[in-house]
Amino acid sequence: MPRTRIQYETTPEAQRAFLVGVELKSPTYRNASGAAHLPLESSMEELALLCKTAGLEIVGQTTQTLDVPNPNTFIGPGKVEELVAWRNALDFDVVVFDDELSPRHQRELEEALGEDVTVLDRTALILDIFAQHARTREGALQVELAQYEYRKPRLTRQWTHLARQAGGGAGRSGTGGVGLRGPGETQLEIDRRRIDERIARLKQALEEVRKQRAQHRAQRRRADIPVVAIVGYTNAGKSTLLNAIAKADVLAEDKLFATLDPTTRRVRLPHGHLALFTDTVGFIQKLPTQLVAAFRATLEEITEADALLHVVDITHPNAIEQAQTVMDTLKELGAGTKQIITALNKADRLSPAQREELATGVLSEGIFVSALHKTGLNELLAEVEAVLFERLVPIRVRLPYKAGDLMALFRREGAVESELPEERSVLLSGRIPGRLLDVFMPYAARHSPNSTP
Ligand code: GTP
Repeated sequence: MPRTRIQYETTPEAQRAFLVGVELKSPTYRNASGAAHLPLESSMEELALLCKTAGLEIVGQTTQTLDVPNPNTFIGPGKVEELVAWRNALDFDVVVFDDELSPRHQRELEEALGEDVTVLDRTALILDIFAQHARTREGALQVELAQYEYRKPRLTRQWTHLARQAGGGAGRSGTGGVGLRGPGETQLEIDRRRIDERIARLKQALEEVRKQRAQHRAQRRRADIPVVAIVGYTNAGKSTLLNAIAKADVLAEDKLFATLDPTTRRVRLPHGHLALFTDTVGFIQKLPTQLVAAFRATLEEITEADALLHVVDITHPNAIEQAQTVMDTLKELGAGTKQIITALNKADRLSPAQREELATGVLSEGIFVSALHKTGLNELLAEVEAVLFERLVPIRVRLPYKAGDLMALFRREGAVESELPEERSVLLSGRIPGRLLDVFMPYAARHSPNSTP
């Protein structure tokens, strides 16, 4: 049997992991994640990087093409037998599936593989990594909540590796024996109730933190400094870019999801305007839905931002698919209509010929930068400044007379081209800076047949 090509440096106590990937041919399953579809090989490479980030040593991998998943074991019975043979040969502790397994799949696979092998899926792995990386109380609470919601239907057995890897984070202490192999029915019920109680308490605590965050946001708004949220696929270089433009000291690591909590820095733009830049969690394909929900508060930084800075690792072989995943996720979050400035990062690694080729491709709107070597940053920031302050975008709004502050804002920051009084409102046509689009969009007026846009 061929050994995997993927080899990573590992610590002596690292658990040995075997990866399983399935190419599902049925379109229903292919599109289940709603995200851009990565080829299986790339998805497996990404899974390997996730394992490395979680501290697992990869000892091998196997893949299979199926029309639909097997209802019992996800992979087919022959593949299960092959997996058992691999286990005997390689003595691994963990099997990691690239797709989300149902509780039943997980149970049946663990039965087939025996006591000593834990079956995980991509979701559990991402949750585990998020738990290790959450740096603030809010991040820790969000991940803990997502973990409990994921675990609840799967309560049959504890993931020892999750417990062992715990960096003392908030997610670990409360399980207290929950889910150990073979609890009786009653024990299971007690455990489920404990989890429900814990989930309720976590939700309450998060609500408090969210209120505080909303207050901070309101203060920033009052200060009238526009906010730019830095978004991008995990490992694209968001933190490095924030460091470079703000001379801030944000953690930058060649690991997935080094950033789990937003960090905000104030930056002076080339023509003197100020903007706040905020780092956000990296996106990834098949991002567990529990996490999208759990990270609502963090992601609110994105939906509340005045503009988005999309960082793409242009040297990644799947740069375009990654960028598409980010755009799809932004749409899901309701931020698809925001002004987006694209930074094509790690340009220091491109040859002049590669640059030329990219300049005409689908990402040609982007600006080449190297966050690491601090090149292209001035041009990038000038573009951010133009979008936020200088370039005016056309808009037509119907503002009620009682919204006098908005009328004043339109006149002060934008350019009024026509003004038509109506019974209870004024129909204003003109141009406003991009950063104010979100403020005025709720009042956008539909065009009448003889109006100009
Ligand atoms: P997440 O926290 O996972 O979302 O990652 P991130 O997007 O914040 O990426 P981060 O800034 O941590 O950078 C990831 C890796 O890319 C690090 O090893 C950086 O040193 C490297 N990197 C970032 N920018 C550049 C660049 O311009 N050129 C090169 N060559 N490497 C870069």
